[in-house]
Amino acid sequence: MTDPVDSVDSAAALRVLERNWRSDGYTSPNLETYPWQWLWDSCFHAIIWAALGDGRATVELERAFVHQRPNGFVPHVGYQHDPPAALALWGIEGASTLTQPPMYAHAARRLANAGRPPSPVLLARIEAGLEHLWRVRPAGNGLLSCFHPWEGGTDDSPRWDAWTLTPFDRFGHWKRRKRELVDALVLDEHASPTGSRAFVVQSAAFNALCAFNALEFADLTGSSEWRRRGEDLTAALDARWDEALGTWTDAADDGPCDTGVDHDSGAVRTLEALLGVLVTPDERRADRVFTDLFDPTAYGARFGPCGLHRDEPAFDPDAYWRGANWPQLVYLLWVAATRRGHPQLAERLACALREGAAASGHAEYWNPDTGEGRGAAPQSWTCLYVATV
Ligand code: GLC
Repeated sequence: MTDPVDSVDSAAALRVLERNWRSDGYTSPNLETYPWQWLWDSCFHAIIWAALGDGRATVELERAFVHQRPNGFVPHVGYQHDPPAALALWGIEGASTLTQPPMYAHAARRLANAGRPPSPVLLARIEAGLEHLWRVRPAGNGLLSCFHPWEGGTDDSPRWDAWTLTPFDRFGHWKRRKRELVDALVLDEHASPTGSRAFVVQSAAFNALCAFNALEFADLTGSSEWRRRGEDLTAALDARWDEALGTWTDAADDGPCDTGVDHDSGAVRTLEALLGVLVTPDERRADRVFTDLFDPTAYGARFGPCGLHRDEPAFDPDAYWRGANWPQLVYLLWVAATRRGHPQLAERLACALREGAAASGHAEYWNPDTGEGRGAAPQSWTCLYVATV
């Protein structure tokens, strides 16, 4: 564990990113815990580098695609630093066989706004990545499927509790199960998944981020086709809104995969499931989300919203993906509040992000009530506070 960085300004952010920067052209999320390149992390890092006025913004976003397959699939972990290290878990060298939310279109749009427009090659890679999701992942309900809890980026969320034993045991059964779920993937000739024998879920969060990135790509390029795809996916997501719970819920149409799992945990009120607020045209739903985010009996807390609604039985403010605050989610909610024309709410989120980053020493995630750091530190994406302007 390195020294915590507890001041929050551009200089502190630069120190964290410099420390985690690798000569291979990407920023590790954290040098000790997460030395490899993670896909959605790198997209957030590119946004941070751009906010710092540093040319590594473009380098990092382009390098997020080094392992993109000829069919467009973008792996979520790149092992370019030590390619054989991937073999044990993934059975191939160099990269994983899963993906993560395609935050690259949003990153490209933010870089373009910061005077760093993507090259035609990068734009083509982004479009191929989105295209692959829209080709391989559609389920019968109009939503896109995830084939592993890691694909949503929120691996220990109680939304996946139908796949593990009660009580939840992070380092016991669930850790083993996540590995079994890698073995259950159905891969094509490019080592990209086309299905799973055990986990096929249309997660509300993953779909919100896919729709959002399709719309970001449409804004960036003027493509009416990507606008239509983003809007259609948003409509399918909006069909999953639960008015009583005030959240979008997951679906689990496993189509021909027939996983045999009855997914009964997809309506747990998690913060990530509220990311539909980035895309929904329904102002009433958006208002409900913003109210709950700051309500101290719902998600509200001093150092940013709780990762779970406080009434959920699984709520634990210190736990990894089961109640703690995550900085990249706060950043995305800030984007939603800003774009929807709520500057005061946006500023409250930006403030909580800065205070949480400072109190936690730039931790990976933190207790939303105390700001006490949890997980790895310093974590690169926590510097997103420099991009909330
Ligand atoms: C954890 C998070 C995942 C992230 C990775 C690297 O596994 O759950 O979302 O990409 O760490 O930071």
